[in-house]
Amino acid sequence: MISTLLLPLLATAAIGAPQSSNCRCRPSDSCWPSTKQWSALNKTINGNLVAVRPVASVCHQPEYNADACKTVTNLWSDSVWRSSQPGAGQWENWEAWPERNQSCYVDSPQDTACQQGRISLYSAEVQSASDIQRAVRFASTHNLRLVIKNTGHDFLGRSTAPESLQILTHTMKDIKISDNFVPKGSSKSAGPAITIGAGVQLPEMYKAVAQHNRTVIGGSAHTVGAAGGYVQGGGHSPFGHWKGLASDNALEFEVVTADGSLVTANSYQNKDLFWALRGGGGGTFGVVTSVTMRTFEEVPVVAYNFNITTAGGDPRFWDAFAEWHAALPSINDGGGSGYYFGLPNYPIAASVSVSTMITLMLFPEKTDVAEVDKLYQPLAAKLQQIGGVQTVNASIPFPTMNSTIFTMLIGGESDSTGGISMLASRLYSKNLMTSQDGPGRLANAFKSIKWNPYAEFIGHVVAGGAVAANADKVDSAVNPAWRKTISHLLFSRSWATTATLAEQTAVIKNMTDVEIPILRSVEGFVLGANYPRLYSIKQKWDPKGLFISRKGVGSEDWDDAGLCRT
Ligand SMILES: Cc1cc2nc3c(=O)[nH]c(=O)nc-3n(C[C@H](O)[C@H](O)[C@H](O)COP(=O)(O)OP(=O)(O)OC[C@H]3O[C@@H](n4cnc5c(N)ncnc54)[C@H](O)[C@@H]3O)c2cc1C
Ligand SMILES: *[C@@H]1O[C@H](CO)[C@@H](O)[C@H](O)[C@H]1NC(C)=O
Ligand SMILES: *[C@@H]1O[C@H](CO)[C@@H](O)[C@H](O)[C@H]1NC(C)=O
Ligand SMILES: *[C@@H]1O[C@H](CO)[C@@H](O)[C@H](O)[C@H]1NC(C)=O
Ligand SMILES: *[C@@H]1O[C@H](CO)[C@@H](O)[C@H](O)[C@H]1NC(C)=O
Ligand SMILES: *[C@@H]1O[C@H](CO)[C@@H](O)[C@H](O)[C@H]1NC(C)=O
Ligand SMILES: *[C@@H]1O[C@H](CO)[C@@H](O)[C@H](O)[C@H]1NC(C)=O
Ligand SMILES: *[C@@H]1O[C@H](CO)[C@@H](O)[C@H](O)[C@H]1NC(C)=O
Repeated sequence: MISTLLLPLLATAAIGAPQSSNCRCRPSDSCWPSTKQWSALNKTINGNLVAVRPVASVCHQPEYNADACKTVTNLWSDSVWRSSQPGAGQWENWEAWPERNQSCYVDSPQDTACQQGRISLYSAEVQSASDIQRAVRFASTHNLRLVIKNTGHDFLGRSTAPESLQILTHTMKDIKISDNFVPKGSSKSAGPAITIGAGVQLPEMYKAVAQHNRTVIGGSAHTVGAAGGYVQGGGHSPFGHWKGLASDNALEFEVVTADGSLVTANSYQNKDLFWALRGGGGGTFGVVTSVTMRTFEEVPVVAYNFNITTAGGDPRFWDAFAEWHAALPSINDGGGSGYYFGLPNYPIAASVSVSTMITLMLFPEKTDVAEVDKLYQPLAAKLQQIGGVQTVNASIPFPTMNSTIFTMLIGGESDSTGGISMLASRLYSKNLMTSQDGPGRLANAFKSIKWNPYAEFIGHVVAGGAVAANADKVDSAVNPAWRKTISHLLFSRSWATTATLAEQTAVIKNMTDVEIPILRSVEGFVLGANYPRLYSIKQKWDPKGLFISRKGVGSEDWDDAGLCRT
């Protein structure tokens, strides 16, 4: 007689085991949920399960539909539309799966079949924490590749995954404002705060607090999700100097964990999870259903724009670049944070180009334009000495943060996305900029990067001030390098949708082997100091690796697609 203990094993063998017990269950495996099981899940989440196809499928045979294809083509680079679609991310390179030659581009020939790529097969368009719990339990029971999509903005492909079940948090838009927020497990008020559902996007959060004559620390984008990858990745802000990182101001998270339970993480309970969720990365420790963030009094702001321009290709552009960076510490200490955009090779007319930097710094709690202008006078004098450098400036005093944000940072309706974008970036410290040769070495590094026409670098002056001071006040998973940073510099590379895998790999390889080492050679920040602690928290809360996000904590135990353990 066969032992009853062996029966389940034999039964598994008979219906066909997954490819290997080290792998997730995939559609070709017999462990894949039956139609009946999918429809049972569908019922438990109020009919909000959808079978997903890439958004451009309507532009390809046999699914071709002329009207629908026209609509998709018109909306292709609209980030607001993309954030709402289960069949889209924000960057088409992360919708494709080039390793399997799978893509579904809007501009590829109509007779080319649309391949699923990294777009999920099913999406649970969740409306509540309990919907999320049901989807998480279903994925766990059936050993599925699970992915959380909020807005799809992630630059490392963390919100798409091949052959996966997606949890789409987009419609979880609840917002609650409180004058006296009391964290669970505490009896003391933590002060005024806003509690936002998982799907709330930055402008929605800003508008809600402004109605109460308050402000909140958030980023600069139309469609980024405040409670998702943004705050969980640390959350940098043009007002970071004033009040710290977004995650420094997070008071509480509600989270669905890998075992399907809904827990509260704050400084009174589940403290390890609270620590990890503030900077340890999205999609890794559980599904956040809501976040509570501190709010602040509305204040006036002076916005100061300063442009630096030379003739195209004039090497003195890089001397000006060095002077700008040498001036950053005093501008930042003077209360300014914001952004600068560099276009070293910017065509302005047929066969005429300029090299230019457009800088925009914001000074909260300031009303005196002359006081701000004074901070820039030493820089203006240095640039004058170089010769061949033109500068112009403009300043605008704003009565409120709200008017500053919606006028200077997120005017218009959406961010332009939909393209192919690979980022190279580095954090650079204030110490580097105050050192004798630091700004010059940074300039030499950036000078040696190849700048095609219109190519751009972006500097984010989103630290210093309170971000630095919080090193001693906030114990979170945020990379400690942020506390010493003055600028987060990046540039991106792209390729055509017709590029072969080999061509794509060549671009990435040059970034990894040539360009990033150039950026890194300027300053050797040691990264990853928090990693061992994050890894052990990950093992505690998600021992089976249900939540694996690409390049996230614990992802090294899996292949790149997160389908099989390595
Ligand atoms: C135009 C633009 C402007 C930006 N500006 C800023 C800025 O000013 N400051 C800044 O810090 N960053 C900025 N970013 C970066 C942005 O914060 C990150 O890309 C972030 O990961 C986006 O999070 P998301 O939830 O909106 O996107 P998604 O791509 O949907 O999610 C990102 C990651 O978080 C996970 N995730 C999403 N929701 C949840 C949840 N509820 N629970 C658990 N995990 C979840 C996903 O699985 C994924 O791993 C910007 C990006 C863009 C494209
Ligand atoms: C889920 O149920 C809804 C409502 O009954 C239905 O419209 C939808 O097609 C179902 N989804 C799937 C994947 O079957
Ligand atoms: C990849 O797919 C495209 C379009 O389906 C096809 O034309 C091409 O031959 C494929 N390439 C390889 C290497 O399989
Ligand atoms: C904040 O700014 C937005 C955009 O200009 C505007 O619609 C909104 O009314 C403002 N809110 C307040 C309270 O002023
Ligand atoms: C908003 O708050 C600021 C700062 O507290 C205050 O000066 C201002 O009068 C308030 N405005 C309104 C309309 O309540
Ligand atoms: C800004 O422009 C004004 C007016 O043109 C000028 O007086 C001032 O010196 C400029 N400031 C700097 C820092 O260049
Ligand atoms: C700086 O350059 C930007 C982009 O060209 C432009 O919009 C802005 O008006 C310029 N600033 C000044 C003060 O001229
Ligand atoms: C690699 O990057 C460097 C620096 O940007 C550039 O000069 C070089 O042309 C690139 N090489 C290739 C093969 O793309």
